[in-house]
Amino acid sequence: MTTVLEARDVHFAFGRTPALRGADLRLGEGEILAVMGPSGSGKSTLLHCLAGILVPDSGEIHFDGQRIDRLGETGRSALRRDKFGFVFQFGQLVPELSAEENVALPLLLSGVRRSAATAEARVLLERLGLDGLAARTSGELSGGQAQRVALARGLVARPRVLFADEPTGALDSLTGEQVMDLLVGSARAEGTSVVLVTHEPRVAAYADREVVVRDGKVLALTAEPAA
Ligand SMILES: Nc1ncnc2c1ncn2[C@@H]1O[C@H](COP(=O)(O)OP(=O)(O)OP(=O)(O)O)[C@@H](O)[C@H]1O
Ligand SMILES: [Mg+2]
Repeated sequence: MTTVLEARDVHFAFGRTPALRGADLRLGEGEILAVMGPSGSGKSTLLHCLAGILVPDSGEIHFDGQRIDRLGETGRSALRRDKFGFVFQFGQLVPELSAEENVALPLLLSGVRRSAATAEARVLLERLGLDGLAARTSGELSGGQAQRVALARGLVARPRVLFADEPTGALDSLTGEQVMDLLVGSARAEGTSVVLVTHEPRVAAYADREVVVRDGKVLALTAEPAA
C-alpha cells in the first residue's frame, strides 16, 4: 500500500509536559486508520502534528514524500487548505454562516468563485441528506445535523487526508453511526485517507486498521497491510 502520510519518531512537549515521545505512524492511500488510546495519551497532539498544525520538537512528518515539518507556517497552512480536511468533536461551524456557506468556506478560502463553491456545497449537502437545511445557521441545527454539515465541510475540497478527532464524541450512538456511515462512505467513494481519533471501539470498528497511543507512543493493534 502506498504511504500517504508518515510520522517518524515524533516528539512533542507542551512546555514541560511531554505529549509525544517517539511516535511512529504510517497511513496508506485510501486507508481509514483508527487512533485509540486513553485520555491524555497524545492522540490529538499526534493528529495535529500529522496535519501540520503543530510542529514536532524532533522527528519527521512526511506527506506524499515531502517533509512537511520543515515547511514554514505559510506552507503548512497552504497544505492544510489544499490537501487536508478536518472534522472535530463539536463541529465548530461558523455560527454566523448558513450550513451552505459553512460547507463552501474551504473552497472560497482556496480561491474558488462563490457560485462554483456554493454549487459544490449543495452537492455535498445533498449527498449527506442535508439539502433541506442549507439555509440554517448552526444554532438552528441539531447536534447530529451540525456534525454532518461539519463533515460536508471537511470533505468539500476533496482532501487527500481527512483528519477526524472524536467526530462522534458529542453524539448519541445512533446519530454517531449515521455520521460514521457517511464519513466512511464518502472517504471510500473519493479514495480519501482518514485519520480517525476515537475512544469508542464501535467507531474504531469502521476503520481498516487500529493503532493505540499510550504515553505518547503508537502501538500497532491490527497488522499493517503489506507495503
Ligand atoms: N494546549 C496544551 N497545553 C498544555 N498541555 C497540553 C495541551 N494540550 C494537550 N496537553 C497535554 O498533552 C498530553 C496529550 O494530550 P492530547 O490532547 O494529545 O491527549 P488525547 O489523547 O487527545 O486525550 P483526549 O482523549 O482526552 O482527547 C496530555 O498530558 C495533555 O494534558
Ligand atoms: Mg484528544
